[in-house]
Order: sequence, then structure tokens, then C-alpha cells
Amino acid sequence: MRLLLFLLICLAAPAMLAAQQSFDPYNYTTDKHLHADRCAVVSAHPLASLAGVEVLRQGGNAVDAAIATQLALAVVYPEAGNLGGGGFLVARLHDGRTLAIDYREKAPGNAQRDMYLDSNGVAQTRMSLDGHLAAGVPGTVAGLFASHKYARLPFAQLAAPAIRLAEKGYAITAAEAAGLNRQRENFLRLNTAPTAFVKTGTWKTGDTLVQTELAHTLRLIARRGMKGFYEGETADRIVAEMKRGGGIISKKDLKSYRAKVRRPILFNFRGYTILTMPLPSSGGIGIQQMLGMVETYPLETWGFHSAKSVQLMIEAERRAYADRAHFLGDMDFVKVPVQTITGTRYLQDRMQTFTPGRASQSENIAAGQAGRESTETTHLCVVDQDGNAVSVTTTLNGGYGSKVVVGGAGFLLNNEMDDFSVKPGTPNMYGLVGAEANAIQPGKRMLSSMTPTIVIKDNQPVLITGTPGGSTIITSVFQTLLNALVFGLDAVNTVNAPKFHHQWLPDIVQVERDFPDSTQQALRQMGYEVVTRSPIGRTELIRIHPGGKIEAVGDKRGDDSAAGY
Ligand code: DON
Repeated sequence: MRLLLFLLICLAAPAMLAAQQSFDPYNYTTDKHLHADRCAVVSAHPLASLAGVEVLRQGGNAVDAAIATQLALAVVYPEAGNLGGGGFLVARLHDGRTLAIDYREKAPGNAQRDMYLDSNGVAQTRMSLDGHLAAGVPGTVAGLFASHKYARLPFAQLAAPAIRLAEKGYAITAAEAAGLNRQRENFLRLNTAPTAFVKTGTWKTGDTLVQTELAHTLRLIARRGMKGFYEGETADRIVAEMKRGGGIISKKDLKSYRAKVRRPILFNFRGYTILTMPLPSSGGIGIQQMLGMVETYPLETWGFHSAKSVQLMIEAERRAYADRAHFLGDMDFVKVPVQTITGTRYLQDRMQTFTPGRASQSENIAAGQAGRESTETTHLCVVDQDGNAVSVTTTLNGGYGSKVVVGGAGFLLNNEMDDFSVKPGTPNMYGLVGAEANAIQPGKRMLSSMTPTIVIKDNQPVLITGTPGGSTIITSVFQTLLNALVFGLDAVNTVNAPKFHHQWLPDIVQVERDFPDSTQQALRQMGYEVVTRSPIGRTELIRIHPGGKIEAVGDKRGDDSAAGY
């Protein structure tokens, strides 16, 4: 009888699996604005959001969905979704527990403080950006397993949609085709083995991308857990890749990598509790500082995008980024006066030098380049029917990271080493400068700006948000929170309204092209240099309304898409 049952299950299994393939990877649409009653996922790619919803339908919770979505992003959004990068997760579970999981990359054991300086002491930032030496020790897979403790379904079930997408392929979007074509020369130049990302001829919208090697790696992880990545075949392949390309990640670096469960940042802002990421992200401290600096001003009376409101916000941004450059780094390695610089008195003191109607001046030291357009980090938000809320930002740093695909293993390695301060005062790819606190040390985690955030009111999550955008992440999240909580914008406008950015150095205000002209003019008259730039970030947002109705919004600036029911 038992044998019969077993045989029946074996026979039915393929059919059951087929039934679980809840979406068509060759035929899908983007949903920018979704209303749902029970649960929702919003991410940078429709198929990744659908993968998250697939496991929610199978009985998974928001953490299951966040894991499945991240694994799917590693397949369908290779410019930023990843196995070879890192990220941060914050969550607020339905029983009130809050979580912050740090799976940021770390510097390899053989890294050295001055490893990107030439013999004249000049920073060679190409080396921290492209190729094998740019990669930090990947953290994502460890992060997924650290999160899995709070999930419900077996890991292999969460990996199933990603494995399917890698093995059978999916139709690529126009943006993806353009991205792969743009990187073709880099892929050819920087790789030691053929990769799925380069084909004969150019990529076109709707082409199928199959990633057989990546499917194999995903299967190893699904079968062997952490060991499927950090030890055995995959680790061997990473180290062999390093040897071929002159990188320094060792087997010991991989085997010793651990995600860290951190104490999340929690603070009050006008009756809301903001839950966000602590160091080694500067994001949480950054928004705590900026919100603290503007909290007592009557922004809602001054109005959304009025010159008065925008000027105040710019001056808060300037001061927070000056602190970032000076104080912040991995607290496991350096002392950071977090309590002081997030304290009310300190923040009020910082604004003593603020003069309404007149631009402050950033100190006159070596200025960086304006942050350039990039869409290479990625954010996702999930809420489930029990009220578990998850916010994850994950990254390879630059687009397609170091552009190095691990030979035989099919995944891209990050170029996160550039987030260290390669040389004090020398700007990184986002124009950010740093000091000793963020200098390279073996095993240290490079400072990040990623700011996954959840807003809680009356003991319920009301907003889940985050964005990519390098140095603009913190100012985007700052504006997203003010848009929704203070200026009273609806969910769609909260995400899509034009954004602006000031990061202390360079001393300029960057604005999106559709930022109101009249406000730009008024700022110029106050003494600001205002520069228009390419779109800022790709914000994802879930709003949970009183009574439990859910609204999910994917940013108009990308392929971002929501799914749910
Ligand atoms: O951790 C950081 O702050 C950066 N590596 C994030 C990079 C990023 O957002 C790129 N995408 N736009």
C-alpha cells in the first residue's frame, strides 16, 4: 500500500510541478500599480515578482517570497540581481519582531589598504571597478540562508522558479537587451570563459536568454545549502576564476563568509516608527539624520516641491553626506559615534548654520564627479496576508558588477570594492568621498548607501520601500518618506514624482529633467548650482492602508512591476 502511494506521488510529481509554474516566461506584462487584498511583491522585473507570488500561493510567507524573488532576479535581472553580490534585508514580522540581515560583501583576506594605488600613490579606480580584483567576497547566498530561518517552505521550493527560468530561458525586455549589448565588449574583454550573456549578433527584445551553468549552480545551492556555494564545486570554480583573472578571493574567504544579524535602526518621526538598515549601510543613519533635521519645520505648509521645502531638504542632505564621508564605516572595524550623530540635539545643532533663502557652501576640498546614471542595484518589497513585511536591497554595485562571470558557474561577480574609500578624498564611481573609517582592511565590509525601509504605525506596517541609485539611494528614500508621510502624495506620485539630490561633494544640486523649472530658478537665485541629470533610482513601494488593503507601485523609471492577489 505504501509502495503504491509512493509510486503514485512519483508519477504525479512532474504534473504537480507543472501546475505550479504559475507564469509564462515568454509572455508576461508589467504591472506598475497593483491593488491587492492579501499579499504583494514589487521588484525590478515582472518575472521576479511573479516568482515571489508563486511561492506565496504555495503557502509561503513574505520571507519565502523575498528569497524566491531574489533568486529569480539573479536570473532575469543579471545587471543587479545576483548570487555573486550582496545585500541587506529588513523585515517586520507579524508578531512584532524586527530584523536586519547584513549580507554585504567583505574585503578578501588578501586585500590591502592601498591595493588600488599605483606606485605614485594615484588611485586606479578602473581596478576597483572592472575585472577580478574589483570583487568582494559575495554575501547573497549566505543572506538568503540567514533569512530562510524566518521562512516556511523548503529552500529548494523557493529556488524552483529561478532554476526553471535559468534552465528553460525567458524572453528578455528591451532594457535588458540594450544592457547586454552595451556590455558586450566588456564581457568579451574581462572574461576567461564563454558566457551566456554574449551571443553571435546583438540581443533583441523578446530573445530567449538561457543560463544553463547558472541553473546548475542554483541546483547545487538548492541541494547542498550554503555548502553548494561557499564550498565544493562552486567555490572551486570561483577560486579558479580568480587565478585565471588575477583576483584574490580565496577558499578560506568563501568558507568563512557569514551573514550578520544586526540590530535594526528604529526611530520615531512624527508619530511613525521608521525601521531601516544600520551600518555597514550608511542609509539608515542618513535618513534618520535627514528626517531629524527637517522634522520640526512646517514642510506641509510650505508645500511639495516649493523652493522653501526643497532648500531645507537640500541642506539636510548636504549635512548628512558630510557626516557620512567623515564618520561612517564598518563598525566591526572602526568606532562610529552613531548615538551622537543621530541624537536630536546634534541634528538641531547641525541646522544652526542653515539660512533660509541662501545656499550653504560645502567645504572647499577636492570635489567628486556628479553621480552618473546607473540602475544596477535593485530593490524589492513584499507583504503577506499575515502582515509580515520585507524590504530588500541587493546589488553587484555597477551594472553587471565587475562584468566577470565565474567560468562554469554562470553568475556575475560584484565590483563592490569600489564602495571602499580607495584613497581618502578620492571620489568613487558615485562621486562619494570617504575617510579612514571606510578604508580597505581584510574582512571589512565596504560602506553602503542601500536603505531598505519599513514604516510602522499603530503596530502595523504601513509603508515598505527602497531603491537602487548608488549615492542617491538615501536622498531618494528620504524624499519618498516625506512625499508619503508629510506632503500627502498618493502612492504612484510618491514613487514617480521628480527627485533631486545633494551629497555634500560635489557641491551641486542634481535634479531630474521633469523637476519644476520655477523651483530650479528659485534655487539658483539662492546661490545653488542646479544640474539636470538622468533618472534617479528605481523606487519600489507598498502601502498598506487602514483595514489592510494593499497598494504596490513599481517605478516608472524601469521595468519594475508588481504582482499579488
Ligand atoms: O551599496 C551601495 O551603496 C552601492 N554599491 C549601491 C549601488 C547602486 O545602487 C547602483 N545602482 N544604481
